[in-house]
Amino acid sequence: MRNEDSNVQATFNGIARRYDLMNKLMTLGSHKRWCRDLAQFASSRSGRSYLDLATGTGVIARAVRELNPCATIIGADFSEAMLEMARQIDGNSSIEWQFADAHELPFADSEFDGVTHGYLLRNVSDLDRVLAEQYRVLKPGGVLAALETSPPSGWLGPFIRLGMRVVVPTLGTLIGRDGEAYKYLVRSTLGFLSPEALRLRFQLAGFQNVQVKPKFMGTNMIWTASKPG
Ligand SMILES: C[S@@+](CC[C@H](N)C(=O)[O-])C[C@H]1O[C@@H](n2cnc3c(N)ncnc32)[C@H](O)[C@@H]1O
Repeated sequence: MRNEDSNVQATFNGIARRYDLMNKLMTLGSHKRWCRDLAQFASSRSGRSYLDLATGTGVIARAVRELNPCATIIGADFSEAMLEMARQIDGNSSIEWQFADAHELPFADSEFDGVTHGYLLRNVSDLDRVLAEQYRVLKPGGVLAALETSPPSGWLGPFIRLGMRVVVPTLGTLIGRDGEAYKYLVRSTLGFLSPEALRLRFQLAGFQNVQVKPKFMGTNMIWTASKPG
């Protein structure tokens, strides 16, 4: 694993315990609804097997379970602390929690009908490899649904940037108990690709029907795409 990825891993191991609460506060309670939207899209093929990558405490995996009571669902992450939180949550026992680095997925080609992930791509050292891995493990015709942050743009952009730089680390210090980790989350959001650039990377990986829906003044995006059938 590259150094950048080990640092990210250590950051998420450190904030796992208070991550869900922080997420709720930072998105003013919208995160769960966006995860349900992702699950809805991922379930559109009525498949039998789903992978939620960078699952964290498994919010998206749980939303997929609600829509697919009989499917095999794997929640995968490279943070053991996040996976431990996921395992302890009531109602999560029907989901398989598995350690996996998104750069090198321990799954067979064409294994899943749907792949989901939330807030993964801005954290990885090799975005193209991570997208190629997702493409590889999807069945032909399989669908991808992802929630990602996006650098604020437009005339409100500078105000939102300033707000993020002040509010998120403050909440991170007071509630998340780790201001530095939340400074990283802001830095990685502000330094992430524009939606136009990210669309191109999905397409270069081979995905088709790449669509994006902005949320929360364009600071969050729901991406959907499919692997050609
Ligand atoms: C911001 S959290 C998001 C958790 C969850 N998806 C959500 O929406 O609440 C990002 C997660 O991505 C995981 N992650 C980051 N880089 C990863 C990688 N290379 N492989 C696997 N997981 C990774 C982190 O461990 C962390 O749990």
